[in-house]
Amino acid sequence: MQLTVVDHPIARARLTRMRDERTDNAAFRAALRDLTELLVFEATRELAVEEYPITTPVTGTTGYRLAAPPLIVPVLRAGLGMADTAHSLLPESQMGFVGLARNETTFEPEAYMASLPESLVGREVFVLDPMLATGGSLVHCCTLLTERGCTSITVLCALAAPEGIRRLEESGLPLRVFTGSIDEELNDNAYIVPGLGDAGDRQFGAV
Ligand code: PRP
Ligand code: URA
Repeated sequence: MQLTVVDHPIARARLTRMRDERTDNAAFRAALRDLTELLVFEATRELAVEEYPITTPVTGTTGYRLAAPPLIVPVLRAGLGMADTAHSLLPESQMGFVGLARNETTFEPEAYMASLPESLVGREVFVLDPMLATGGSLVHCCTLLTERGCTSITVLCALAAPEGIRRLEESGLPLRVFTGSIDEELNDNAYIVPGLGDAGDRQFGAV
């Protein structure tokens, strides 16, 4: 598994705003959007491009476009806050959705929806979820993708815990992971420490 920490000054500043308990829902969402831009920028660095001819107002020249825009899959709820930014940068991409809620007693994910193409053979997929804690949710989501034939998954997250990274590594799934930070550990409630709290609640309010 390839692991990249996007350790950029703007990423640190936005992550700090997200961590700060005084940050309100709107400011949290804005910081996550900015951080997502940086994550997408790094994760798309090596995507294949194809050339095609264009004409400027002055002359003919060579244009470029992504050869195969990745499928974007936000993990609901919290990944929704990353979806629009990723889609703006990858406007030709299709989007699928996976809905998971972590059971806060067992810490295992409970699936409530999946809207994905039948076949993902030959497709690159970008999975969006701000939090990689125990790793249970991402293993579940990425397994849904490999069951459909996907062999190339890129996970974008704001924060990762060492425990979750280990679980993804041990899963043997075909993954690249881009994260804004690797935090210290999980606490007894499987929350990331120092973390930022509940990423869904911080964006949308506790429901
Ligand atoms: C959060 C987060 C991840 C998951 C991470 O979602 O967005 O999906 O927890 O935890 P894990 O790595 O231990 O599985 P949650 O289940 O709280 O749902 P929400 O996005 O609806 O708030
Ligand atoms: N889910 C969150 O939203 N935050 C954590 O710290 C762990 C799981």
